[in-house]
Amino acid sequence: ISEVKGGPDEGLDRLGQKLTVRGWVRTCRAQSSVTFIEVNDGSCLSNMQCVMSSDAEGYDQVEAGTVATGSSILVDGTIVSSQGSKQKVELKVERLQMIGTSDPSSYPIQKKRASREFLRTIAHLRPRTNTFGAVTRVRNALAYATHKFFQENGFVWISSPIITASDCEGAGEQFCVTTLIPSTRESTDCPSNTIPATKDGKIDWSQDFFGKPAFLTVSGQLNAETYASALSDVYTFGPTFRAENSNTSRHLAEFWMIEPELAFADLNDDMACATAYLQYVVKYVLDNCKEDMDFFNTWIEKGIVERLKDVVEKEFVQLTYSDAVEILLKAKKKFEFPVKWGSDLQSEHERYITEDVFAGRPVIIRDYPKEIKAFYMRQNDDGKTVAAMDLLVPRVGELIGGSQREERLEYLESRLEELNLNKDSYWWYLDLRRFGSVPHAGFGLGFERLVQFATGIENIRDAIPFPRAPGSAEF
Ligand code: 4AD
Ligand code: MG
Repeated sequence: ISEVKGGPDEGLDRLGQKLTVRGWVRTCRAQSSVTFIEVNDGSCLSNMQCVMSSDAEGYDQVEAGTVATGSSILVDGTIVSSQGSKQKVELKVERLQMIGTSDPSSYPIQKKRASREFLRTIAHLRPRTNTFGAVTRVRNALAYATHKFFQENGFVWISSPIITASDCEGAGEQFCVTTLIPSTRESTDCPSNTIPATKDGKIDWSQDFFGKPAFLTVSGQLNAETYASALSDVYTFGPTFRAENSNTSRHLAEFWMIEPELAFADLNDDMACATAYLQYVVKYVLDNCKEDMDFFNTWIEKGIVERLKDVVEKEFVQLTYSDAVEILLKAKKKFEFPVKWGSDLQSEHERYITEDVFAGRPVIIRDYPKEIKAFYMRQNDDGKTVAAMDLLVPRVGELIGGSQREERLEYLESRLEELNLNKDSYWWYLDLRRFGSVPHAGFGLGFERLVQFATGIENIRDAIPFPRAPGSAEF
């Protein structure tokens, strides 16, 4: 359908041509002489209006009432110009074939618009709605544009592992992966793959697949750093997992992250890369997903297209953490969480800065206190702050978190000691600083937050096909 309707003439250039459409019936309306069947195949937002008269092959299916909302059909016909105001062309049906029936009375997607909360309970069917079809296509375009941007700029894509022994962010938010060695499964009465405890209540790691605690990764950064220390600029794009107890509209337990790592680079290079990347992918969806973006502009967030055009065209704001704290301390607005140099910015603070102070422009805040940031960030000369940056956008808040990495062995070792982290388990990470260390920097962008930002969808659970959050792992 997109191939016909997506062209500059909305299909008028294809008049008289034969077309086969395979898709799902949105509505079927029988009128005195003809029947109108709206079919959608997911290739675009538009349906194909199929007009069928009683002499067409397969009309008995219409008479029998099987061509119902939710059913799947194949129609062959000719593209003709349409009398209707909603479309330039329609399909004059010559043959209709029923593929899969659907009982309209029990089909969960009814004509009346359903709430997003309800649609989350039918995540297997929600992609058939306009909103989820559009979000899914834009998500796809953002993924494509991501690879295109990095490939065009000489970055090499790295697959970072999903199972890992290290906690990159050190926040203790990892999901543990404990699994019995397959050969020992039969010999225990363990109901699942969990490891049997020894008599003193401890886990018997000798029976574990990995022989020690292993986790789902919270970030591919440490692995990306190893490849950046050999291939120069690299990026990862894969799933990451966090057992955060945050039931918010911006947190998922499973989300996709894009993590470029730039070799021979500092924080300024990192910020420039983040800016160029964001502008590139936003421009890509504005240029290539016009129909879906117009839909979001009308139904999801009024003005989103203009706002995104500004993102592409205007410079991002840059300020230091200390400047941000000054701004917040002077604010007339009352915050729930107190503002104090040294504490992390809360989402109400981030929103105030992007939405109220800088009127919707993306804001990059840099040089955060080292106490609130991860162990790997490079210490600034003041001894108090690190070369970190967060990129904030309106409504979503933190879209990107990044930093220049500590490339000096002695600084990194003393930081690990200060934080009581086990130096031995970071032996390979420290090796990068022993053998040919280079200044390097990178960032992580939460892909679902980018989808939220680009579509206006309010809840992050609607920005991923099958959301994982506390208490929800269905489908
Ligand atoms: O700021 P974070 O924790 O940074 C890192 O993980 C670094 N290792 C990245 C790097 O420098 N390579 O996470 C990066 C981004 C956040 O800015 C946010 O967009 C997203 O990941 N994010 C989440 N998105 C959805 N649900 C969650 N629970 C998220 N936690 C972080
Ligand atoms: Mg962060």
